[in-house]
Amino acid sequence: DVPELVDRFGRVARDLRVSITEKCSLRCTYCMPAEGLPAIPRERLLTAEEIVRLVRIAVEELGVREVRFTGGEPLMRPDLEEMIAGCAAAVPGIPLSMTTNAVGLEHRAEALAAAGLTRVNVSLDSIDRAHFAELTRRDRLPSVLAGIRAAAAAGLAPMKINAVLMPETLGGAADLLEWCLAEGCHLRFIEEMPLDADHAWARDSMIAATQLLEVLGERFELTEAGRPDDPSAPAEEWLVDGGPATVGIIASVTRNFCGDCDRTRLTAEGTVRSCLFSDDEIDLRAGLRSGASDEDLAQLWRGAMWNKWAGHGINAAGFEPPQRSMGAIGG
Ligand code: GTP
Ligand code: 5AD
Ligand code: SF4
Repeated sequence: DVPELVDRFGRVARDLRVSITEKCSLRCTYCMPAEGLPAIPRERLLTAEEIVRLVRIAVEELGVREVRFTGGEPLMRPDLEEMIAGCAAAVPGIPLSMTTNAVGLEHRAEALAAAGLTRVNVSLDSIDRAHFAELTRRDRLPSVLAGIRAAAAAGLAPMKINAVLMPETLGGAADLLEWCLAEGCHLRFIEEMPLDADHAWARDSMIAATQLLEVLGERFELTEAGRPDDPSAPAEEWLVDGGPATVGIIASVTRNFCGDCDRTRLTAEGTVRSCLFSDDEIDLRAGLRSGASDEDLAQLWRGAMWNKWAGHGINAAGFEPPQRSMGAIGG
């Protein structure tokens, strides 16, 4: 009975993704520049308390039903546990998840679960140590694997592993799938989107879903299983060797799912971003810090989402990537 986050195309945003920092412990080429992103001045960064308030407004006033914390890397914030506990108390019953690279998660999985985190998705592109170090520019694979196991032990399940497809990752894709099947983790491959900080993305070198299917097909028998749960789920599922295990493919570029998009985003600086690709952001931080009411902030948020674009336009002539790179939006 409250006005939800609808746009001109009739889509309703019920999935909130909150980027809480632009810092990261890794430097994946498709996301971050080698030197990292410039630090956000402390006074521009939302505090844990401000984030909890915005999450509560999103749920109570705007119909959001699911909240995911992203980055950069959310584990770079020492107050993450506090933030999660605050949200769990403010919006009981709403799933709180996190997309993480799992570096250092080993030491925090238990506390995060206790604070109220429900589950995690982990970004992992290779299970070969040297290859991982090359892709991420950091030799941290052992920490990531320990983090994945600690998260599973802490009950942060079901866990999904995300692997972005690059020419360099294609050769190890079947090994990665084998490892995930053995660990009982659900793996999803992702087509690279033009959101890298270096603007090096090129259509010709992008690995498309069809190409991946050919490569995986050399080791596994894959049968199409569609999008089982909800239409806004980004991954199409494939049964592996007859099932029940599946592998997902997020074909954001060649088979985009913008028509069913149910996402709204907050940046670490407190702006609402209606689409990964739209730099047209609406600031909530100023109001948040100058006495705006919940309803005032909700109204700004609704306005931001009403103007959401139909879709990303990557395949349209004259496409220009947005200013913010993935590291500053959070996937
Ligand atoms: P689940 O609820 O666990 O399925 O999470 P999710 O897939 O929504 O979130 P996750 O952060 O794991 O995102 C996986 C990948 O999907 C990201 O790395 C992006 O590449 C892609 N993705 C996420 N959100 C969007 C989106 O709004 N648009 C597009 N085009 N791709 C997205
Ligand atoms: N294209 C697609 N996915 C990306 N991610 C980071 N950069 C890109 C990109 N350019 C993914 C990460 C992580 C999620 C938050 O976003 O692998 O799983
Ligand atoms: Fe939604 Fe934009 Fe992602 Fe398309 S690209 S699914 S419209 S956020």
